[in-house]
This record gives sequence, C-alpha cells and structure tokens, in this order.
Amino acid sequence: MVKVKKAIIPAAGLGTRFLPATKAMPKEMLPIVDKPTVQYIVEEAIASGIEDIIIVTGKGKRAIEDHFDHAFELEDNLYKKRKLDLLEKVRESAQVDIHYIRQKEPKGLGHAIWCARKFIGDEPFAVLLGDDIVQAETPCLKQLMDVFEQYNASVIGVQPVSMDETERYGIIDPLRQDGRLYEVKGLVEKPKKEEAPSNVAIMGRYILTPEIFKHLDKQEQGAGGEIQLTDAIQKLNGTQNVYAYVFEGTRYDVGEKLGFIKTTIEMALRREDLGEELRNYLRELVERELSLSAVRR
Ligand code: UTP
Repeated sequence: MVKVKKAIIPAAGLGTRFLPATKAMPKEMLPIVDKPTVQYIVEEAIASGIEDIIIVTGKGKRAIEDHFDHAFELEDNLYKKRKLDLLEKVRESAQVDIHYIRQKEPKGLGHAIWCARKFIGDEPFAVLLGDDIVQAETPCLKQLMDVFEQYNASVIGVQPVSMDETERYGIIDPLRQDGRLYEVKGLVEKPKKEEAPSNVAIMGRYILTPEIFKHLDKQEQGAGGEIQLTDAIQKLNGTQNVYAYVFEGTRYDVGEKLGFIKTTIEMALRREDLGEELRNYLRELVERELSLSAVRR
C-alpha cells in the first residue's frame, strides 16, 4: 500500500488581506497568541505522520526559514538567564527538518504546488494551507490520509458553509454521499450563491496523487488570472476518482481579519495562563459596550 509521506505547505502568497502588516512580514508568521500560524500547520503535518515537509516561499519570506532554524544567540541568552521554559519553546520549532523552494512569482496556488514537483516525484502527497487551522482529536490531515489509504485516490478536506459564503471558497459538486465521504463530480472556484452546486467547501487540506502535475504542467490560468489548484483537480477528476471528506474538528479561518481575531480570542481563552483574565476582561468589555449602545439609543 502506498503511504503519504510528503507534504507541501504553500506560503508564497502576498497576504494582501493583512496589509500593511504583511508588507515586510510573511502572513504565515502572524501569531495566534504567541505561535506563528505556520507552526500550527507544521505541527499538524507531523502529528499526522508526515516525514518530509517542503514550504513554498517567495519574496520577503525569510522569517519563515529563520523561525524553523536554531537561533544561537537567543538560545544562549535564555539559557544564561535560566529562562528554560522559553528556551524549550524556541528550540521546539527548530526540531523539524523542513525543505524550502521559492516560487519566483505569485502566479497562484496551483503554480506554487507545481514548484514543488521535483521534491514530490512520483508519490501521493499532502497539501496544507496556512489559512485554515483545525483543532481536532485526530489531526485533520491524518483523517484524510486514512481515507486515502482506503481508496487510493485523491481526497479533499471539506466542510459545509452557509450559501452566502460560497463565493469565498472552492465548492464541490457532489456525485454520491456516504456518511462523511463524497464522490466528487466537479469543482468550482468561488461560485456565486446562485451558481454554487452545493455548500460543501474546500478547506485547505488535500491528499493528491502525482498525476495532478500533468495538469499543472499546462500552466493554464483560471479565476483571477491565477493558476488554480481547483482547476487542476477538476481535470484530474476526469481520469481518476476524487473524493471529498467532511473532516471532524473545528476549523478556524485565519486567512482573513475577522477570523484571525476570533481565533486569537478563542485560543487565548483556552490557555491556562491567559484564559481567566481574558474572560473577565471580555465580560467587562461587553457590559461597557452594551451600556454605551443603550446610551446612544
Ligand atoms: P490565499 O489567496 O489565501 O493567500 O492563497 P494570499 O494570496 O497570500 O492572501 P491574500 O488573499 O492576498 O490575502 C492560499 C494559499 O496559497 C498560497 C498562499 O501563501 C496561501 O497559503 N499561495 C497563493 C502561494 O503560495 N502562491 C501563490 O501564488 C498564491
């Protein structure tokens, strides 16, 4: 049986939704409380059993490589000051062996994946996007890997969204449903509510067979003039079955501002060192806001 051992984390996008913060800093380094979003993604890949990770970077993304590297001066300083808990945290992110490749121009997600084709070779592989963080008992990617092992075919992680949100996502056109699993008839990138074939949205986790590269090789532009991964999966579906799996767990959208703020608050609320104080503060804040709006009325 073929196992999924490699993962691509594309991180070469411009992060325009977070400008000006992302002018000189990668969007993937924005922290949820005190951990960069890309570290959550790397941890999920490792927890799922992935052995080799490649991050597709671009201009201005050096901070990602530095984050997963040793920082000798900082480590030495923390050691001398006996801040051993912080030292452990700093060292933790340098434990994983990560490969990097540059996408020379941000031509789209499909193009970013294509840039890693030589690293992948002729094996099935995983793709994890940093815009979605998933908290689940069984890591989200592992759930998809289990489906792959059963069907030996490409699997996309999906969750239902409200019909008003379809134009923010890739949406699947389902052929058949069996519990959490869909056989996919087609995929549409960001359809309007009226044109959406369903409300089942693609959520930034994929297991793909290497045949996807034959379609990405053609470098065809799709929505927004970008080389879209969704379009290549649609073509792949013409020759191989593609499945979609409604993964279990809570998914946080950290790729846009409001989702990022909500995620930060929820994660901080669950922390032992911050939760209680933050909860008290939020309670006070809500009371203050409510009485202010009552005065305005
Ligand atoms: P997004 O569209 O969410 O990311 O792409 P973005 O382009 O960085 O963000 P906005 O929309 O401008 O705010 C999904 C994923 O694909 C990667 C991004 O880094 C992100 O992880 N991507 C996108 C690339 O690696 N290369 C590209 O050319 C485009």
